[in-house]
Amino acid sequence: MSSDNVFKNFIGGQWVESTSRETFENINPADTNERIGVFQRSNAEDVAAAVAAAKSAFPGWRRTPPPKRAEILFRAGRLLAERKEALARDMTREMGKPLEEARGDVQEAIDMTFYMAGEGRRLFGQTTTSELPSKFCMSVRSPIGVCGLITPWNFPMAIPAWKMMPALICGNTVVIKPAEDTPLSSFNLVRVLEEAGLPPGVLNCVSGFGPEAGAPLAHHPDVHVISFTGSTEVGREVAHAGAERFKHVCLEMGGKNVIMVMEDANLDLAIDGAVWGGFGTTGQRCTASSRIVIHKDIYSEFERRFVERALKLKVGNGIYPETQVGPLINEAQLRTVERYVEIGTGEGAQLLCGGKRLTGREYDRGWFFAPTIFSDCTPEMRISREEIFGPVVSLIPCSSLEQAIAVGNNVVYGLSSSIYTRNINNAFKAMQEMQTGIFYVNAPTIGAETHLPFGGTKQTGNGQREAATAALDFYSEWKSIYIDYSDTLQRAQIDT
Ligand code: UN1
Repeated sequence: MSSDNVFKNFIGGQWVESTSRETFENINPADTNERIGVFQRSNAEDVAAAVAAAKSAFPGWRRTPPPKRAEILFRAGRLLAERKEALARDMTREMGKPLEEARGDVQEAIDMTFYMAGEGRRLFGQTTTSELPSKFCMSVRSPIGVCGLITPWNFPMAIPAWKMMPALICGNTVVIKPAEDTPLSSFNLVRVLEEAGLPPGVLNCVSGFGPEAGAPLAHHPDVHVISFTGSTEVGREVAHAGAERFKHVCLEMGGKNVIMVMEDANLDLAIDGAVWGGFGTTGQRCTASSRIVIHKDIYSEFERRFVERALKLKVGNGIYPETQVGPLINEAQLRTVERYVEIGTGEGAQLLCGGKRLTGREYDRGWFFAPTIFSDCTPEMRISREEIFGPVVSLIPCSSLEQAIAVGNNVVYGLSSSIYTRNINNAFKAMQEMQTGIFYVNAPTIGAETHLPFGGTKQTGNGQREAATAALDFYSEWKSIYIDYSDTLQRAQIDT
């Protein structure tokens, strides 16, 4: 399948080169001298071949009993668990996140694989009554067809698994286009599914860039379902592509997630949470805690202790066990973060720490940025409202729970939010009022588990959810079935 670290596309059960004969390199963001591999630069023709393979595999896979589909997923889950360490190391090298977090990413893929394998013996529908005698009613889930999956670089194995496993267990076939920054982890996942015995054509993988490979996938007339995780800007294009042919579209986009720290919070716990939520994965999670709204009574103590902790974080190559914060994914992301530091300073926010690229021997070959905290931010500042996707946290003072909630909700996104308080009434009040798809009490905004719906409100998404049984609702269609065993014509709503 690969020689000299050249990775091919997976189409119809074969590992093939792009018809373009063009390739691109996958580079380690912690050490740009290290080439992870060479991947196919796919085009519309490659995508069309992958979609054709998925289309011809669909009838056979659709008729395969779900518990049989599940056997393959269970095998894949076991292979992923056996290879967890090697898969995590590959991920750290291509994406940069510390090894411990990469293990977590692989674990999330394992969890989703087993969860969806279990669904092979459920995929529950309903049986219900009829308003007419001698008539039986039920609803069953039907597969839809070819699913096009476009996945991001920040969770290079977990997110492909979130999309792929429910699509497959429901009886659909798949074409995945992984992010160009992290194709290896998706290839590793595809290889595991191939080894687990997935029939040819059921899962296909084409590597490449959004405009060249992602767009043709989203527009292809034989792709009925599109699931996309990434920027709001590209999400809008995917939505337009889907609208042409009324495709089922699931979009997971930006976030500007808030932690609210109330005056009665356990401060040690809140600071632990802010450090993990703000700087974990170098802030490159759509769930990252990029805003902290803090009650004025504890503001200065929180600020002082949070900065102390941020300054102590060990930034470095994620492959070393002592590293707590890895690099940014690429140069463009580094430039974005630098630009936002300028914007924040220009807006009058107070830069308490970080704010610059790290230099020196350990850092010169990677995209490292110091954990950055802005204080005295107002809710109107761009650094308080726009997604940065880097290690930058904005602190915003507040004087009441009501104000914290209002500030927390005052953004276009609605992915995740959290409150630190010991007051049960306030916790429930915030739970009720926060306009986010995910809410935490006494925990940061990151750390969703695979058996609960994942996704956000407002401009974070388009109303769909991933993970849990919610994913089954997206990757299947309801078929309502009426069986009349009366041997007479019975007219609903008329023969009463
Ligand atoms: C993402 O940020 O893109 O909840 C996904 C979490 C992880 C998934 C994050 N389980 O932070």
